[in-house]
Amino acid sequence: MEKSDQITNLAKDIFPGSNNGNPTSDLIMSKAVGSKIWDIDGNEYIDYLLGSGPMVIGHSHPKVVEAVSKQLSSGSTFFALNELSIRLGQEIIDAVPCAEQIRYVTSGTEATLYAMRAVRAFTGKEKILKFEGGYHGMHDYSLMSLMPRSEVEYPIASIDSSGIPEAIKNEMLIAPFNDFETTEDIIKKNKEEIAGVIIEPFQRVIKPKPGFLESVRKITNKYNIPLIFDEIVTGFRFGYGGAQEYYNVVPDLCTLGKIVAGGYPLAAIVGKKNLMEVFNQKSDTISPPLVQIGTLSGNPISSAAGLATLDVLKAENPYEKLFETGNFLQSTLREIFNRHEIPAQVVGEGPVFDVYFCSNEISNYRDTMGADKSILNSLNSNLIEAGIFKGDTKYYVSTVHDSFDVEKTVSAFEVAVAKLKEQHDI
Ligand SMILES: Cc1ncc(COP(=O)(O)O)c(C=O)c1O
Repeated sequence: MEKSDQITNLAKDIFPGSNNGNPTSDLIMSKAVGSKIWDIDGNEYIDYLLGSGPMVIGHSHPKVVEAVSKQLSSGSTFFALNELSIRLGQEIIDAVPCAEQIRYVTSGTEATLYAMRAVRAFTGKEKILKFEGGYHGMHDYSLMSLMPRSEVEYPIASIDSSGIPEAIKNEMLIAPFNDFETTEDIIKKNKEEIAGVIIEPFQRVIKPKPGFLESVRKITNKYNIPLIFDEIVTGFRFGYGGAQEYYNVVPDLCTLGKIVAGGYPLAAIVGKKNLMEVFNQKSDTISPPLVQIGTLSGNPISSAAGLATLDVLKAENPYEKLFETGNFLQSTLREIFNRHEIPAQVVGEGPVFDVYFCSNEISNYRDTMGADKSILNSLNSNLIEAGIFKGDTKYYVSTVHDSFDVEKTVSAFEVAVAKLKEQHDI
């Protein structure tokens, strides 16, 4: 039995559904350096999953390894203020337009949970408006209309997971991304009850239409509704100042994760001082005070990794190249599908994209509902066979994907797409 078969069998035994909390994959990984990842049988892949996004400067970057190693023998977590977390906080505040203060948590899920709690505490209101198909992690409020299987009338939420109380549904309002008219109508009708609006400024792989984010900003300003950008994917990826810099629309609060922790457990809520003040438990302006504490919050190892990652991004300013590489891969894929006359939409923004197998254009979640997922699954499997590793629903490009990687990826695209013709009736 190959080593991987033994370990796969063990995984089947100990993890429900063979799943350790990451999406199931038949591959078991053992090592990743730069743009490459290896499975336990020693097979090499060009990695476009990047640990679900954090590893934008590549795996095991020497500067990150050095910074983390330096801290390792000086303690991994203190549950107390430490210099590295303060320095990382200042760096984030200097970079992100809306950031005047920062509070750390350990995961993106926690960051959006607390951002929602913060706007409720700040406004004294309860409802949160989110966009259909928008992902904000795995807590009860974010698992509303993330992936509804049928079209539910806006703004009614549909629950995505078992185990979530039915009552939570009534705390959420759902709007269609890129449809300002409907969004405006929902906000106007519910403005007295809305505590905040949360949005991925770039929703999964869907770009905002020109003017959409600006209009959402304008109406939330008009009714004094705090606007939260979930920049866990876009932060430090679309530019050093994130999507708010790239699209030039500044929210009141923002959640950050992935890149800011350089592949270690840390995430953050940042925002305007007056709003962030709700996290000040010593303040007597809110009763009872907003409570937020975490064992690993701002731990020095993650802070060291985050600081080293941001140092590299700041020094190299790789954003033009990052977009160039991503745009080239996108346009190449498009051309290959066209040549094979396969109806497919390559959707994304520079370094983040994926494919929907459908003929219609994609501008919100409902446009994606008719796409054929079985063809996408086949494409992803064909790519793995050709040495390309990606997530189920996204390609992430890194600053270390070089011209050799791109050349190999394009050859793999050719083979993987050609195979689809044999595997599906398209
Ligand atoms: C936009 C967005 N928000 C929140 C999260 C949740 O982050 P975490 O997986 O760290 O809980 C993710 C994770 O992929 C994300 O992409």
